[in-house]
Amino acid sequence: MSEINADLFDRVAAGYDEAVPFFETFGRLLVDWVAPPAGARVLDLGAGRGAITRAVAERGIERVVAGDISPEMVERLAVLPGVDGRLLDAQALDLPDGAFDVVFAGFVFSILPQPELAASEVARVLRPGGTLALSVPGPSTDGGWWERYGEIVAEFTDRLDGGAAAGLDPAEAVTEWDAVLARAGLVVVDVHTTEVDLPLDGPDAHWEWLMSHGNRWLHDALGETDRAEFRNRVLRSLDEDHPARGTRLIAGADFFRIERAD
Ligand SMILES: C[S@@+](CC[C@H](N)C(=O)[O-])C[C@H]1O[C@@H](n2cnc3c(N)ncnc32)[C@H](O)[C@@H]1O
Repeated sequence: MSEINADLFDRVAAGYDEAVPFFETFGRLLVDWVAPPAGARVLDLGAGRGAITRAVAERGIERVVAGDISPEMVERLAVLPGVDGRLLDAQALDLPDGAFDVVFAGFVFSILPQPELAASEVARVLRPGGTLALSVPGPSTDGGWWERYGEIVAEFTDRLDGGAAAGLDPAEAVTEWDAVLARAGLVVVDVHTTEVDLPLDGPDAHWEWLMSHGNRWLHDALGETDRAEFRNRVLRSLDEDHPARGTRLIAGADFFRIERAD
């Protein structure tokens, strides 16, 4: 399953977050909310193109490891000034115990097949009392459009041989993050729900954005006919159900500030 994530994010890495600064905006919001202290040793887990890494570095923090399972992402992370970009699997970290004061994981746990393994690994590489900052998709003032999109995704996923197991089989069903984290000795100390509302050129740009990150897995897994129908259905739902008819990207996130118990 980790290979599926690596292949998927390799395919989207070149254009990732370039047309619309979605991850960039949320990354900055998360870093500002957590406000890691100067001198902190920071790990950005599942760093993608470095939205969080850049926001951390801009605070003058110099010891940043940015890791991802996608070689194409890591290639782009490694060229960021002062960043130690590494190929790694969040579920089996090749990093020493207690090496970090703060670990960020932006929109990563919710796409892992076994987030509980990542939670244990984060607990191991954090020093006692260290902080994990997590973001996962959350509610927004989208008029129910994301739910509608989820229904369309579920319908087309059912058309695949093997259903959801054929592709990115995310842990999006996990709603009790507190419980998953607690089993690894990680305690949620604060939760914050926020959203972004970003301009788009129109519904086609909305579709292109949807297909520019993890959501692309289903598009790529479908046959040609289903793929065209999937696109048409999403465009129709943007026209009929989206509060801005697809001309704005409205999406929410839940942020968790978590501490490793001593
Ligand atoms: C939705 S993106 C978020 C990227 C970044 N955190 C951000 O906020 O822009 C998820 C990232 O997690 C990476 N990823 C997926 N599975 C992973 C794993 N098992 N270990 C490490 N990274 C993983 C993907 O390659 C991708 O870059």
